[in-house]
Amino acid sequence: MIVLVTGGAGFIGSHTCIALLEAGFKVIVADNLCNSRVEILNKVMEITKKNIIFYEIDVTNEHSVDRIFSEHHIDGVIHFAGYKAVGESVKEPLKYYYNNIISTIVLVRACQKYKVQRFVFSSSATVYGENEVPFKESMILKPTTNPYGESKTISERILIDVSEANPAFSVALLRYFNPIGAHESGLIGEEPNGAPNNLMPYITQVAKGKIEKLRIFGADYPTFDGTGVRDYIHVMDLAEGHIAALIHLKEGIHKYNLGSGKGTSVLELVTIFEEETGIKIPFDVIDRRPGDIAECYADVRKAREELNWYVIRDLRMMCRDAWRFEKNI
Ligand code: NAD
Ligand code: UFG
Repeated sequence: MIVLVTGGAGFIGSHTCIALLEAGFKVIVADNLCNSRVEILNKVMEITKKNIIFYEIDVTNEHSVDRIFSEHHIDGVIHFAGYKAVGESVKEPLKYYYNNIISTIVLVRACQKYKVQRFVFSSSATVYGENEVPFKESMILKPTTNPYGESKTISERILIDVSEANPAFSVALLRYFNPIGAHESGLIGEEPNGAPNNLMPYITQVAKGKIEKLRIFGADYPTFDGTGVRDYIHVMDLAEGHIAALIHLKEGIHKYNLGSGKGTSVLELVTIFEEETGIKIPFDVIDRRPGDIAECYADVRKAREELNWYVIRDLRMMCRDAWRFEKNI
C-alpha cells in the first residue's frame, strides 16, 4: 500500500513515516520544508533502512499535488502539512486559514480526481473548545479561541461534507492531544524554530541551559495543584495510531481521540522530568496565557474499541526520550 504523507518531514509526520515503513507501507512525502529539514527524512531512512520518495512541494499548489497523484498509484493520504503556532495564528489569521484549509481542499480534490478513497486528517483536541473533560468524539464542538483551532474545525467540516456526499470516501479525523517525546534512537524529535511555544521543548531547553527558567502560565486554575492539566502522548504512540486508523478505516467519516486518557499538570510533568533526568528545572509562576483552558484530556474508549489502539509508553519514557533527543542536537 502506498501512502502519501503531507508534512512528513515535520515532528509528528517523521515519526509516523517510521511507523509506516516499519509496518510495510511504501511512503511518499510531500513537504515544502517551511518548518522542517530534508535531513530529517534521511534520518528516518537511516533508522528504518527503507526508502522514502520525497517531493519538495507546497500542498496548497494544485499542479504540484496533481503531479504526485499522476506519477504514483496512491492508496491513502495522511495530511499533516499545516501551520500550528496558536499565538502566530491570532496575529496572522489569513496565513493560517489559507495554508491549513486550502491544503485540505487541494488534496481532497486530487483524491476525487484519482479515486483515492482513504484520507487521514491531523486534527486537534483544540476543536472541542471549552467542553467538559474528558472530551468525547460525540460532543458538540465549542468555538475555539484562535484561527489555528478554527482552521482545524473548518477542515473537519469540509471532510465531513465531502464524505457525506460520497461515503466511499473514507475519512479518519484524528484529534491529537499533546504529543511529546521523540523516537528512542534520539535521532529525530521536536525541533521548534526559535523560542518554543510548547511545554516539553521549553523544559528540555531549560534543562540544557539554553533558557534560564521555565515560566509556568498560571497556578490558579481550578485543577488539583492550580496548574494547567493536559493529556500528554508519546509521539511514537501517536504515530502508531495513524497505522491503526489506516488499517481499520471504513466507509464514511470517523472521529478518534488520540491521547492517553490521563490528565497531567504542568508541575507534575516538571517533577517527572526532574526525576528521570536528575536535572532541576527552575521556574517562575506568571500570569495565565490568554486562550489556555484549565483542563484537556481525552476519553479514549472509541479508538481502543474500534481501532484496537491505545498508548503503551508512559510519561517517564516521554521525558527520557525528549531529553535524549535534546542532548543530541
Ligand atoms: P510540524 O510543523 O513539525 O510539521 C508540519 C510539516 O508540514 C512541516 O514539515 C512543514 O514544513 C510542512 N508544511 C506546512 N505547510 C505546508 C505546505 N503548505 N505544503 C507542504 N508542507 C507544508 O508540525 P507537527 O507538530 O508535526 O504537526 C503536524 C500536524 O498535526 C499539523 O497539522 C498540526 O496542526 C497537527 N497537530 C499538532 C499538534 C502538536 O502539538 N504538535 C497537536 C494537534 C494537532
Ligand atoms: N505551559 C507553561 N509554560 C510554557 C508552555 C506551556 O506553563 O512555557 C503550560 C500551558 O499553559 C498548558 C500546558 O503547559 O497548561 C501545555 O501547553 P502547550 O503549549 O505545551 O500545549 P497546549 O495544550 O496549549 O496546546 C497543544 C498544541 C496545540 C494543540 C493542543 C491540542 O500547541 O496546537 O496541544 O491539545 F491544539
